Amino acid sequence: MSTTHGLEQKIADKTAMIGVIGLGYVGLPLIRAFTRAGFRTMGFDVDQSKVEKLKAGKSYIKHIDSGAIAALINAEKFEPTADMERLCEADCIIICVPTPLNESRDPRLELYRRDGAFDRQDVAKRPTGGPGKHNAPHDHS
Ligand SMILES: NC(=O)c1ccc[n+]([C@@H]2O[C@H](COP(=O)([O-])OP(=O)(O)OC[C@H]3O[C@@H](n4cnc5c(N)ncnc54)[C@H](O)[C@@H]3O)[C@@H](O)[C@H]2O)c1
Repeated sequence: MSTTHGLEQKIADKTAMIGVIGLGYVGLPLIRAFTRAGFRTMGFDVDQSKVEKLKAGKSYIKHIDSGAIAALINAEKFEPTADMERLCEADCIIICVPTPLNESRDPRLELYRRDGAFDRQDVAKRPTGGPGKHNAPHDHS
């Protein structure tokens, strides 16, 4: 983990390791965007089958070409893993997982605060959109 000043420098010279948690419709394109910008990336997902597909250079997202994933893996620009202990290897962590909702359909942000893995990191969280919309596919209001 970097100090704030050290982190700024690493981002400026693109030596920062970017970690993305959740390799779905948001996370995987984000990995591609960061690699295009010149960063090395690690991708974390609880779904081991997704991690294995990515390691084998296979995409499961229609608009992301398998060849592009294979190229990133071969160039060591992208390392997918299900091992959350490795979160400490990332300088920046971006969370792209579905947000659980409570009974009043508000995001349960306390789950992030309780997660010991995040206590060890400087995590900048920015809402990626309306979690209510994403998690309520039958709610068309
Ligand atoms: N897809 C969109 O168009 C869209 C638009 C705006 C906002 N969002 C928001 O972005 C976030 C991610 O959406 P998405 O569409 O990429 O979801 P997704 O279901 O496609 O991908 C989420 C991924 O996170 C993984 N995951 C779940 N829990 C995890 C955990 N605890 N640790 C690590 N990995 C975990 C899942 O296995 C899955 O691969 C959601 O909060 C959603 O509301 C999505």
